[in-house]
Parts: sequence; structure tokens; C-alpha cells
Amino acid sequence: MLSLQAVTKRYGSLTALDGVSLDIARGEFFGLLGPNGAGKSTLMSLVAGLRAPDAGTLTLDGQPLSAASAQARLGLGLVPQHVALYPELSADQNLRIFGSLYGLRGTVLRERIDAALTAVQLNDRRREPVKNYSGGMQRRLNLVAALLHRPKLLLCDEPTVGVDPQSRNAIFEYLESLNREGLTIIYSTHYMEEATRLCSRIGIIDHGRLHALGTLDELLLQLPFEDEITFPETAATAPLLPLLAGSGTLATSEQTHRFRPATGYRLSDFFAHTEKLGLPPRLFTSQRPTLEALFLHLTGRTLRE
Ligand SMILES: Nc1ncnc2c1ncn2[C@@H]1O[C@H](COP(=O)(O)OP(=O)(O)OP(=O)(O)O)[C@@H](O)[C@H]1O
Ligand SMILES: [Mg+2]
Repeated sequence: MLSLQAVTKRYGSLTALDGVSLDIARGEFFGLLGPNGAGKSTLMSLVAGLRAPDAGTLTLDGQPLSAASAQARLGLGLVPQHVALYPELSADQNLRIFGSLYGLRGTVLRERIDAALTAVQLNDRRREPVKNYSGGMQRRLNLVAALLHRPKLLLCDEPTVGVDPQSRNAIFEYLESLNREGLTIIYSTHYMEEATRLCSRIGIIDHGRLHALGTLDELLLQLPFEDEITFPETAATAPLLPLLAGSGTLATSEQTHRFRPATGYRLSDFFAHTEKLGLPPRLFTSQRPTLEALFLHLTGRTLRE
């Protein structure tokens, strides 16, 4: 559906995007995960046609995406990182303006506004000025403003920053239902939990480069270990150590053993040993590697840096 080929964007001497190639298929919920300054908003603004790339091409359904291709842009909705609403106007008035920018009017516009405000539970506050809304309410309105014209592709640029868990969940569930109905979504975030929960495929971006791309499981396979099991260094667990020899690596520090099984080692074998030795399961903590660990592995940085 959307294709980026070797896209580069510079701001003066700073390269914000550095030869990014990426294909998004129809119906995907694609996550763009990266820390501050990674290039997420720059990528969104190029796809939305707000800026032109310095090199490379972008196409939507095979059509070049340029600032001029209004037809292509009708198929896009952008939820900007910073809330872009008129604070003095009500939700109703804001949505009427956004809708008419896309050529909607009359009954169609009214029905879509009603449906949008109901979907994000703002119906009872619709006549109040937006400046009276909480941050989470503004975010929800910001989101539906990008959807009134029923785009095929929705760009969500960190839509939950500063939103409390309850509103965040409402946004997640709304986006998930839209995606189930066929909307393609590109979602940028620096929260690995969001990418993990929402996205069918994730791109890891830092310093303008795409460092990894794949499903969560595919990405985690790029880590040199699959699981890490920690357990205390005690007399009781000592007989376990020779049984693990050759099955992976074992590191010990601060009275804690850390066992990283070799690829293909079955955790069921591990727990067969512990059962035979009569070691209770509660001694063992198994940790699945996270996107945070992968990010650190790929870039040497943390997502919050
Ligand atoms: N208009 C601009 N002029 C100059 N430099 C810019 C401009 N917009 C972005 N940059 C720079 O480009 C780089 C990428 O910025 P971008 O906003 O795309 O990152 P981001 O991943 O969206 O970060 P954040 O998570 O903080 O929103 C940063 O170094 C930023 O300072
Ligand atoms: Mg940004």
C-alpha cells in the first residue's frame, strides 16, 4: 500500500532520515519505535506530504506521494504529535472545520461527527470549548479529527503522550477496532509496551535509520538469547549447575545465577531437572527478552535516552 524507497531528509547539516526503505501492506498496524529525535515525526510528515524528501521516493498504492497529490492525501489521515485543535471552539465546531476541509458537509458531516464523538466518549461535552478539556480528552478529539474523511491509512504520531492509563486504553481499543475493520495504521511511539500490544509489525528507528523490522517474535529472535532464567545461588540449587553444562551459558553474580539457554534448548528440559531435584518453581524467574533489550542491543542506547 505504502512504499518508501531510500528516503532521506535533511534539515541543514542534520540528517533526520537516512535512506529509509519500508513497505506497509494494507491492513497492517505498523509500529515505529524509537527515542526522541529518532526521525519518527519526520517520516510521518513526509508520508503526509507536509514535507518533501531530499532523496528517495514515496508511493501510495503505486502513486507518487508528493505535496501536490491531493488525491493521495485524501486517503491519509494524520494525528499530529502536538494537539492541533482550536482551543476556543467546541469539539463540534472543531470537527465541522476539519470535516469541511475534506469537502464533507450537510447530513454526512453531521452523522460522522456524531459517530466520532460517540466513539471517543465526548458526546456529552461536545459543546464546550476544547480548552476546558483534559489532556486525554483533547488527544481523543485530535484523533477523530483525522478520521472524519475515512482515510485508508492513518498516521498516529505518539497519540498517547501525557494521557492517563484509562484514556490511553480507550484510544488503544478504538484504534484496534478501526484496524479490525480494515484501516491501515502507522503508529509511532517510544513506549515499547504500546508497540508490543498494538502492532503486528514493528520498525526500530534511531538517528534516522531503520535498525530492524519485523513482527515482535521476529525481532526478539535477533537477540542472542531467547529466555533468561534467574535463580538464587544456594546449596539447594548447586546440583542443578552440572545438569545445565553445555545447554547454554551460566553467569553468576550477587548470589544470583543467570542461565541463558542455547537456541533450541527446551525449557521443559530445564524444568524436568528442577523437578527431579525437588526445587520449587518459585525459585526460578524466566524473563522473556523485550523490545527495550533489543533496542539496547542494536543501538547501544535506551529508548528513554
Ligand atoms: N523543522 C526542523 N528543523 C530542524 N531540525 C529538525 C526539524 N524537525 C526535526 N528536526 C530534527 O530532526 C531530528 C528528527 O526529529 P523528529 O522530530 O523527526 O524525531 P522524533 O522521532 O519524532 O522525536 P520525538 O520522539 O522527540 O518526537 C531531530 O534531531 C530534530 O532535532
Ligand atoms: Mg516526534
